[in-house]
Parts: sequence; C-alpha cells; structure tokens
Amino acid sequence: MATTNKLRSSPSLIFLSLALLFHFYLCKGDLLLNYYSESCPNAEDIIRQEVTDLYNKHGNTAVSWVRNLFHDCMVKSCDASLLLETVNGIESEQASERSFGMRNFKYVSTIKEALEKECPLTVSCADIVALSARDGIVMLGGQRIEMKTGRRDSKESYANFVEESLPNHNDSITLVLSRFQSIGLDVEGIVALLGAHSVGRTHCTNLVQRLYPTVDPTLDPQYAEYLKGRCPTPNPDPKAVLYARNDRETPMILDNMYYKNLLSHKGLLIVDQQLASDPTTYPYVKKFATDNGYFQDQFAKAVLLLSENNPLTRDDGEIRKDCRYVNSI
Ligand code: HEM
Ligand SMILES: *[C@@H]1O[C@H](CO)[C@@H](O)[C@H](O)[C@H]1NC(C)=O
Repeated sequence: MATTNKLRSSPSLIFLSLALLFHFYLCKGDLLLNYYSESCPNAEDIIRQEVTDLYNKHGNTAVSWVRNLFHDCMVKSCDASLLLETVNGIESEQASERSFGMRNFKYVSTIKEALEKECPLTVSCADIVALSARDGIVMLGGQRIEMKTGRRDSKESYANFVEESLPNHNDSITLVLSRFQSIGLDVEGIVALLGAHSVGRTHCTNLVQRLYPTVDPTLDPQYAEYLKGRCPTPNPDPKAVLYARNDRETPMILDNMYYKNLLSHKGLLIVDQQLASDPTTYPYVKKFATDNGYFQDQFAKAVLLLSENNPLTRDDGEIRKDCRYVNSI
C-alpha cells in the first residue's frame, strides 16, 4: 500500500503520464482543419465540385460515398484500404461478402484525377473517402460537417479483417453495439449513424431471410407483402438486381424517416428493426423519429467520430497516386 502511494506521487511517473497524454493528444491533432491550405488550397473545393457534378449525373454516387466511409473507417482506420483492388498479392476488401452491393468505385477515380491534375501526389485517397462522404451527405439533404484532413493511405488491404469489423445484416444488437463501441461511439451515436440507411437500396439476398419460409413477425404485414413483390423468390440470384429501397418514402433524402419506419415495423434489415425493439436503443429511435433537427445533429457528430477513427498520419502510409493501387506497383 505504502509503495503504491509512493509510486503514485513520484514525479517521474507524473511526467510519464503527462508525456503519454500529450502524445495521444498530438496523434489526434495530426488531423487538421484545412490541412491542404498551403499544399493544395483548392482541394476541398475540387472535391465538392466533383461530388456535385457526379451527383447531378448519377444521384446514387452520393449514397455510395456515405457507405464507403463506413466500410473504410470501421476496418482498422480511415485509410482508403477499401479502395485497393485485387492485384499483385493484394486481396481487395471489396471482394468480401460484407461489401456486397457496393457501387460507384470507378467514380472515386474521377475525383482523384481532378485532384492529381491540380496538385499531384498531395491529397490522399483517405481524405477523398472522408470529404466525399461529407459532401455527399449535403447532396442528400444532411448537414454540412466540418471535417479535419491529413489522413494518409494504407499500403495494404485488410480483407481478412472485414468480417470481424463490419457487422452482418442479421447480427444481434449486442454484437452491433460492441463493434461500434470499439471505435468510441456511444449507443446514441450508433443509433444515429444507422440513420444512413435512410438512403439507398438493399438487394433481395439480404432480405429473403425475413420473408421466407415465414414472414418475420416484427415486419408490418403490408410492408412484407410489398417486399415479397420486390423479392418474389426465396433464393434470388445474388447478381440479379432485385432490391428494395431502404426508405420507400424518401429514398434519396437523409432524414429521420428511417426511425419513423422502424417504429411502424418497416425496418428493412434485421439490424435496423432491432433498434426499435431493444430497450437500450429504442429511446433514441423514438427521439430521432420525432425530431429531425436533433437527429441531424447526432448523425453529424457520429459521422465525424467515424471519420477520425485511427487515421494514418505523418510518416505512416503514403499518398497514393491512383486510389486503386499502392504506389510501389
Ligand atoms: C450494423 C451495421 C450495418 C450493417 C449490418 C449494414 C448493412 C448494409 C446492407 C446489407 C446494405 C445493403 C447492401 C445491398 O444489398 O446492396 C447496406 C446498405 C447501405 N449502408 Fe449499411 N450497414 C450498416 C451500417 C451502416 C452505416 C454505419 C452506414 C454509414 C454511415 C451505412 C451506409 C449504408 C448505405 C448508404 C447503404 C446504401 C448503399 C447503396 O444504395 O448503394 N451502413 N448496409
Ligand atoms: C445471416 O445471413 C447469412 C447470409 O447473408 C446466413 O448465411 C447466416 O446463416 C445468417 N445468420 C443467422 C444468424 O441467421
């Protein structure tokens, strides 16, 4: 007891803990607002312009940028590892079953090319993932989120890590919560983040389990009929473009309709519907369903936290020239 007390008050220990605290503070601080202000002053404007042009041509690109943030940042870090393609010993994370249905990767190259033209080898693909999600959210009617930049790109893909990082569509609420808690989100933030399912689509393979052989009793019967109409067979060809809108009412608007749907038993995936039945998440579903402004604030906070998960900075990683490949190839 006496030794512990002596240790606790020892000046060198205090110094060590302060140094450690400072170290962690600095590591976080490696991301900066306007990181490219000197090296590529127009970087953020270029990304916003490209995201806007792409949205006007292919509206669903904005939706893809939001999903990309989740799939990139949850797997180890926001490091654009998601964007690497299978080549020379690299196995793409995109090939994982969890990435099923992801689209529009080719348009990341459109954004990257515009940046390379203005400032070669300067703006990371990881920052493109973050800022395109930020700008995509605005296109979809969400808040503008102030995001720091300065992320660097991984030199490897973490395909083997995808399934243990990203929950599946039918995982338990306990597992879903623990996955997100491991990156520092609290329950309210997790419920808010899942509000991203207010936009986009889901393929029938992810739904049929709730429709056949018997209809999931937590599904509204009329809604189940609609879904059966969209997905008429229990074993759909995964490649068939059979899908349902995540939110039938406002499919391309990021809003709190998702939570209203959950309360009326019209959640699309099992992970969605569980938010309304679990006692720890239900209060937030109710709160967000009644207050879109409050939802938007909590969504923005959660997206920001996700976007800052464990970034590579300083000498870690690299700035890729082509987001699909590491530079050394
Ligand atoms: C428990 C966590 C989650 C699970 C299990 C999950 C699962 C899924 C599944 C199965 C789809 C449908 C894919 C398809 O069939 O095409 C989907 C779509 C989508 N997810 Fe998630 N998701 C989760 C969390 C998130 C989060 C946190 C975000 C973003 C912040 C997100 C954004 C999206 C978007 C935008 C789509 C629509 C994509 C499109 O239309 O192309 N998801 N998700
Ligand atoms: C979850 O869905 C997958 C297919 O997407 C299936 O293989 C698995 O058995 C399902 N798990 C549970 C617990 O139902």
